[in-house]
Amino acid sequence: MSPNIGITPKNLKKSASILATILSNEMTLYVKTRKFHWNISGNSFMELHKLFEEQYRVLEAQIDEVAERINQLGEKTIGTMKEFIDNSTLKESPKEYASQKDMLSELLENHEQLVTEFRDYIPVFENETNDAGSADFVTRLLQQHEKMAWILRRYQV
Ligand SMILES: [Fe+2]
Repeated sequence: MSPNIGITPKNLKKSASILATILSNEMTLYVKTRKFHWNISGNSFMELHKLFEEQYRVLEAQIDEVAERINQLGEKTIGTMKEFIDNSTLKESPKEYASQKDMLSELLENHEQLVTEFRDYIPVFENETNDAGSADFVTRLLQQHEKMAWILRRYQV
């Protein structure tokens, strides 16, 4: 049964498809942050090992909320690694083990890319799909990414 919440079925699908891209990117960044948590080495090992864990826990919570919001809009949620990769705008680096410095810059760039992409999605929810709930929801995700980016940026010297 489709939700009767004042959004047309076509707009529900459009909102859900933007959220599926967001979900895929959160998954990609989650896995990348875990990889860095596992493989970090250098003089700030323990500090960054803990920082990356703190950040992947934020991403993990976001992933669940995004997936459930897609369901709330009446759509099924993708859930395979292949779908996440295919729908992701962030890139992975298989077989590469970045230095501490490069890990920090790559994560920072990825968070900044998501903040920039989310900033473009918000007016689409507001003006095209009549979906104030998703506009507000994605604004909150954007703020969390801005905070994670700020912390990572402080390590750039
Ligand atoms: Fe761990």
